[in-house]
Amino acid sequence: MAALFLTGLSLLPDTAFGQEIPSLKDTFRNDFGIGTALNMAQIEEKDPQMTAFIVRQFNMATPENIMKSGLIHPKWDTYAFEPADKLVEFGKKHNIRINGHTLIWHSQLPPFVRGIQSRDSVRAFFTNHIKTVAGRYAGKVFSWDVVNEALNEDGTMRKTVFLQHLGEDYVTEAFRLTQQAAPNTELYYNDYNNEQPAKRAGCIALVKKIQAAGVRIDGVGIQGHWHVGRVPLKDIEESILQYAALGLKVMITELDIEVLPRNFQGAEVSRQMAANAESNPYPDGLPDAVQQQLAADYQALFRLFLKHKDKITRVTFWGVNDGLSWLNNWPVRGRTNYPLLFDRKNQPKPAFYKVVSLK
Ligand code: XIL
Repeated sequence: MAALFLTGLSLLPDTAFGQEIPSLKDTFRNDFGIGTALNMAQIEEKDPQMTAFIVRQFNMATPENIMKSGLIHPKWDTYAFEPADKLVEFGKKHNIRINGHTLIWHSQLPPFVRGIQSRDSVRAFFTNHIKTVAGRYAGKVFSWDVVNEALNEDGTMRKTVFLQHLGEDYVTEAFRLTQQAAPNTELYYNDYNNEQPAKRAGCIALVKKIQAAGVRIDGVGIQGHWHVGRVPLKDIEESILQYAALGLKVMITELDIEVLPRNFQGAEVSRQMAANAESNPYPDGLPDAVQQQLAADYQALFRLFLKHKDKITRVTFWGVNDGLSWLNNWPVRGRTNYPLLFDRKNQPKPAFYKVVSLK
């Protein structure tokens, strides 16, 4: 307290630290973990109020960008471990479990991968990357999204540099290598829209293939980038049941609910949408009707998660508050979006109260 007083922070109202707001992680303590995506400023604890808020609300975290291959492995022989090391320290200090995100993904790759032509070089990158990164964080991160987004919407394998050069078994191979490098770390497959029937079937086939090869997979992440008024609760429930039936833990790994106009579903990060006069309808605040729909959607989702709490181990939001959400800049730059439970000042929205009222 003395230190806070000296820096003048004690002059701020209590609400600044959110101590009077119910805590999500405590509310769902006996049900599942509650996670958030963290950006670099949060990992570096640039803002003590933000740190206090994160620590009070969340007990699990996923790095929003810093562990992606393009950032952690910028050159063939060069790794940039410092941000991820800081994240591990952050987790240790604040009792927050870290989910590594992500080892093998077609997006945010290091630039040098684009120049690789031969199968041998792709294999060398693939193997070195997994061994080095998963090895370094063995025992330090709780889990890995080993492979991210390997599937097309119809359930077939996405044509990536890995599929092209290594063939369909690359997913199994990624799990095998990660298991060797980090034997005590939980291993997950993560995707968006994998609650949709066709993609779900592809995901199940992928999991069965890994299992049939005698390789360990512990869970499936359903990213959970959904749309207000159109959350596919039935498909989500069916997916939870079917994934759990394979002996897997189920996680919601990147939850947010889009409230702005969008002409497609999903979360392919390379996809963009042209801006027009209607693309940013709420720059000054969310209309009450949409706010209430968002609250109802979040409540229905958490009701479903609670119903299946024996199968769901974690629910992670893709960002701490609306102002920090990637959806302000994707698929259109510079919009004002409202997809999370906390507003731009970390104040709880009606959706937050609907969610905690379930307990
Ligand atoms: C997003 C980040 O939030 C952005 O900051 C970045 O510019 C692009 O990637 N699926 C994933 C996440 O698995 O890694 C993506 O994160 C969102 C979609």
